[in-house]
Amino acid sequence: MFNSEMPPTMMPVKVNDNAKTVLSKRYYRKDGNGEPIEDATSMFWRVASAIAAEEAKYDKSPFKVEKLAREFFDLMTEFKFLPNSPTLMNAGTDLGQLAACFVLPVGDSMEEIFDGVKHAALIHKSGGGTGFSFSRLRHKDARVGSTGGVASGPLSFLRIFNTATEQVKQGGTRRGANMGILRVDHPDIIEFIRAKERDGDLNNFNLSVALTEKFMQAVEKNEEYDLVAPHSGETKARLKAREVFNMLVQKAWESGDPGIIFLDRINRDNPTPALGEIESTNPCGEQPLLPYEACNLGSINLALVYKDGEDHGIDWKELKRIVHLSVRFLDNVIDASRYPLDRIGEMVRTNRKIGLGVMGWADLLFQLGIPYDSQEALSLAERVMKFVNDESKAASKKLAKERGEFPAYKESTYGQRNLGPYRNATTTTIAPTGTLSIIGACSSGVEPLFALSFARHVMDGEKLVESNPYFKQALIDSGSYSDKLMDEVAQKGSINKIEHLPDDLKRVYVTAMEIEPEWHLKMQAAFQRHTDNAVSKTVNLPNSASKEDIYNIYWMAYEQGCKGVTVYRDGSKSTQVLCTGEGS
Ligand code: CDP
Repeated sequence: MFNSEMPPTMMPVKVNDNAKTVLSKRYYRKDGNGEPIEDATSMFWRVASAIAAEEAKYDKSPFKVEKLAREFFDLMTEFKFLPNSPTLMNAGTDLGQLAACFVLPVGDSMEEIFDGVKHAALIHKSGGGTGFSFSRLRHKDARVGSTGGVASGPLSFLRIFNTATEQVKQGGTRRGANMGILRVDHPDIIEFIRAKERDGDLNNFNLSVALTEKFMQAVEKNEEYDLVAPHSGETKARLKAREVFNMLVQKAWESGDPGIIFLDRINRDNPTPALGEIESTNPCGEQPLLPYEACNLGSINLALVYKDGEDHGIDWKELKRIVHLSVRFLDNVIDASRYPLDRIGEMVRTNRKIGLGVMGWADLLFQLGIPYDSQEALSLAERVMKFVNDESKAASKKLAKERGEFPAYKESTYGQRNLGPYRNATTTTIAPTGTLSIIGACSSGVEPLFALSFARHVMDGEKLVESNPYFKQALIDSGSYSDKLMDEVAQKGSINKIEHLPDDLKRVYVTAMEIEPEWHLKMQAAFQRHTDNAVSKTVNLPNSASKEDIYNIYWMAYEQGCKGVTVYRDGSKSTQVLCTGEGS
């Protein structure tokens, strides 16, 4: 029997002050008085040993549990890979819910709606986020058969979900996050597009409009399209597609909400259409899922695979090792996780979706001296993500040989094309890594840096101040470093207006607002081409950006094969998660 006690020889894990603050507030287990009863070393051992213990179930495993626990521990404590927050918080605990992403159905009856509210509360309590499509709900003022009355429509129910969320703290530490989706051909679409007009409304929801191929073609041809009652199939009205599209652009310009997703494209990539249609994503948009499906994510820190002298400056051998070990880890997480509903557990074990992604991308580019907004960066993005994706598939195939394929394999699009067998219906997703990147001390996801030196607003109004370590080193190397300069950078966020700095430094150390919107989008598209699920990315725009800029970005996202797009114009919301000295 595997002894999960931490071996006494374990070296204490070092984390920086920001990571320490986040970990002790949210991740460490606490005693009855709310005092942490673990530190980084014991936390990572708890996670590594609980996830490795699943290995014992499989006769053909090439690993002894003890050895694998040590490998997982090293992988995480070297910050080369981190699983999503619920895994770090809950692995090896009584709660044991390890997935970040869930999608729940909202059916067109009181029972189904309030079941949804209850199930969402259970998921939030366990640390997961939920996505819902409200497209099946009959529109406002439609007849309700049982009472002869009229329906209140998707928006009024969405508000109930929002209020319920307000009262339930996620994992006991944060409020729940939700995604609300409505199809563009739902009769209440205009009300939905305007739902977050007032600052603070529906603040526990991200909203996205699900655009269909038919709608996009109508926009292109400047035609009308039908609004269809979901419960009767009746056409209720016709709208000019371009007017609706322009309204979406207008709202995104005003506040960033709602975003858009390309629903038909998401379903074209649905690996298991026989099990149903995908109608929603998780809260941050990177994980489309079937109703009752959940997915656990994990991210590789690309900042740490830089190796001078190697092909393209990347240690490919090490990256391959990390991918294979991470896929094993994430597949074990599925077995180790306890799901809030039996139905979810069954669904997850049928498809066994995992979402391995990357973070630290901007940090890798800094080390390579490649500007984010360059063709070279786009080519490298494709190369790196193709490698991660291909190796994740190879790892999933290997696991299928050891453990069997995912139960829906035969009816899946892989099975139909004889591509597998695979252990997992999807293997790759690029998450925002909002907290993981703090723990891993790297740039988040595939985003450029928001500022070279900045204050992060985290829970309870606290501020964490950070300077990018590669930037600091580059200043030292070029002989430009001084405390005064660092203060100036912290104030301005970027260096392009600091005159005496060398141009090559200014070219490489670019920040989100200085990067032209189309480069943000091109980067998203480059990663999307080699990602099964979707890519979390915000196209950041300066305050001066026009509606035409947003129109162009939306259209480009459509043309370049993205699954959705989120834009944010600086200063268009009263609270921002990230801000420079000047902005706060
Ligand atoms: O870095 P971390 O693992 O905490 O999460 P992330 O990569 O920023 O977000 C990944 C997913 O976790 C989101 O898309 C949500 O599904 C979920 N999440 C959530 O439910 N609540 C939050 N406050 C943050 C993330």
